[in-house]
Amino acid sequence: MTAVTELGTTTSSEQKTVRTGVIGCGAGAFHVEAYAGEARADLVALAGLDTARCRELASKHGIGRIYRDYQELLADPEVDAVSLALPNNLHMPVAIAALEAGKHVLVEKPLALNAEEGQRMVDAAERAGKVLAIAFNRRYRQDVQLVQRHIAAGNFGDIYYAKAFWMRRAGIPGFGTWFSSKAMAGGGSLIDLGVHVLDMALYMMGNPKVTSVSAQTFSEMGRRGKGAWQGARFHTGDVPFEVDDMAVAFLRLENGAILNMETSWAAYTSAKDDFGVSLMGTNGGAEIEVHDYALVDTLRVISDFEGVPTVSRPRLMPTSGHGEIVKQFVAKILDGTDGVPTGREGLDRARIVDAIYRAASEGREVPVE
Ligand SMILES: NC(=O)c1ccc[n+]([C@@H]2O[C@H](COP(=O)([O-])OP(=O)(O)OC[C@H]3O[C@@H](n4cnc5c(N)ncnc54)[C@H](O)[C@@H]3O)[C@@H](O)[C@H]2O)c1
Repeated sequence: MTAVTELGTTTSSEQKTVRTGVIGCGAGAFHVEAYAGEARADLVALAGLDTARCRELASKHGIGRIYRDYQELLADPEVDAVSLALPNNLHMPVAIAALEAGKHVLVEKPLALNAEEGQRMVDAAERAGKVLAIAFNRRYRQDVQLVQRHIAAGNFGDIYYAKAFWMRRAGIPGFGTWFSSKAMAGGGSLIDLGVHVLDMALYMMGNPKVTSVSAQTFSEMGRRGKGAWQGARFHTGDVPFEVDDMAVAFLRLENGAILNMETSWAAYTSAKDDFGVSLMGTNGGAEIEVHDYALVDTLRVISDFEGVPTVSRPRLMPTSGHGEIVKQFVAKILDGTDGVPTGREGLDRARIVDAIYRAASEGREVPVE
């Protein structure tokens, strides 16, 4: 069916909408907000074991159906696509169940507990012929988008060194809940925060292959009962702290470049909750440094002006990362356009995270498999 827009052009895709459901009502709230702002999505259902949180979200956005367990939502024939914002150990089983039930899937990062699980998700999406996308929402920050385009245009020359970091002074989420459990989270600061800045760096660099890594992980604060994130939306529990609260890694890229990473959930650092990426090329560089989740005034571009070393600070517009992810997810489903981060990219990052954990446990440089 065709429609006439306000500008007088016609389009056939405007009449279609994707009926969506969100499973998980913690970070799931970001997805709910994003679907609420997306004209081509109709958010019809929520699921979560924490009924009070889900009810609050549903009443705020006028969502008619609230389920408790995810299986009830997956059985709803009036849902075409789901967002999964669940503990990491549920990403694989719920994504596969959703794909087999004929739903498109947008899963929160990290893709899964490890690459083996991630591969099973990618295979299931291919078998089902459905979209599997991942919420690497930081990619859609305007600083990241500008630098990615500048690098792709060759304006910084060859990038040969990058640094990525996400450091928190006291920010262990859900202390003593699934976040603290190796079996339920797959890891700590590295799989939780590191995967965001790893994705930002590799995305801006044009997705070069990482060939090998050296790394060390630490668990010095959490296991001493220190570093819980205070005053946040998270509750606490009594699961023993089994994961890393700091990780450092040295990654070799196929083009000879190096990516250095450091992450912490808790450490004696002056950083409160800061992340960013620096990139140094043969003709210029950029530094993104984000304090307290700022969206503007976070980018410095380093160049030469008439041979004089110069630093400039582009004026940025705030953007919504999850808003853009959801818009791209819906566009992929309805129009087949390739903007949303894919399950395969999530799998690539999972392979690197696996290699970092392996390098740390074996105390040597290991290849990325
Ligand atoms: N992209 C981002 O910026 C971002 C931010 C925070 C969290 N996350 C990711 O989101 C995911 C969830 O994290 P969170 O902070 O919301 O955790 P959380 O513990 O606050 O929430 C988990 C949710 O899963 C629900 N749940 C658990 N088992 C369920 C089941 N069987 N059926 C239905 N619902 C079930 C819980 O009821 C809860 O609503 C994680 O993978 C995390 O890495 C991403």
